[in-house]
Amino acid sequence: MPAWGALFLLWATAEATKDCPVPCTCQALETMGLWVDCRGQGLTSLPTLPAHTRHLLLANNSLRSLPPGAFDHLPQLQTLDVTQNPWYCDCSLTYLRLWLEDHTPEALLIVHCSSPDLITVHPLGQLTGYELGNCGWQLQTSWAYPAVWWDVSLVVVATIDLALLAGLLCTATGSLD
Ligand SMILES: *[C@@H]1O[C@H](CO)[C@@H](O)[C@H](O)[C@H]1NC(C)=O
Repeated sequence: MPAWGALFLLWATAEATKDCPVPCTCQALETMGLWVDCRGQGLTSLPTLPAHTRHLLLANNSLRSLPPGAFDHLPQLQTLDVTQNPWYCDCSLTYLRLWLEDHTPEALLIVHCSSPDLITVHPLGQLTGYELGNCGWQLQTSWAYPAVWWDVSLVVVATIDLALLAGLLCTATGSLD
C-alpha cells in the first residue's frame, strides 16, 4: 500500500473514533461517512452522533421516544435501524415516522410500538396521524388571522371602487346623450 493510502486510512480511523459516542462503535466508510453501531447498549436516549453519520444502528435498545428534529443535523444519514426498541408511539414519534417514510419506507413495517396499549398491534407505518395524536395542535379558525381581515377589506374597497366607476360611467354616458 502506498504511504498516502496508509495515511488516509489512519486519518479516516482517527476521524471515525474522534466523535464516536461512548457506547457505540464507529467505522469510516470508503465512500466517506460513518457506520455507527449502537446496538444492544441499553440506550434510553439518543447519543450525540457525529455529523458524518451515514448508517446508524440503534436496534435492541431501550428507546421510547425521539426528539423531533433528532436527525436534522445529519445530512448524510441514509439508513437507520430502530427495531427492537420499546417505542412509545404518540405524536412525538411523528418525526421518526416521517423520516423513515422519506428515507427507508420499508423499515416502517418492521418498527413496532410497545405502548400505548391500543396501537401495539400495527407497525409504525400503518398508524394514522389520528392514532399518533396531534400533540394538542389545533388549526385556528381562519377568522382569527389578521390576514383574512386584510383580504376582506381589500375586497370591500375593490367593490366600492367598481361601484363608483360604474356610477361615473353611467353619468358620463348619460351626459353624452
Ligand atoms: C440485545 O442486547 C443485549 C445486551 O444489551 C444482548 O444480550 C442480546 O443478545 C441482544 N439481543 C439481540 C436479539 O440482539
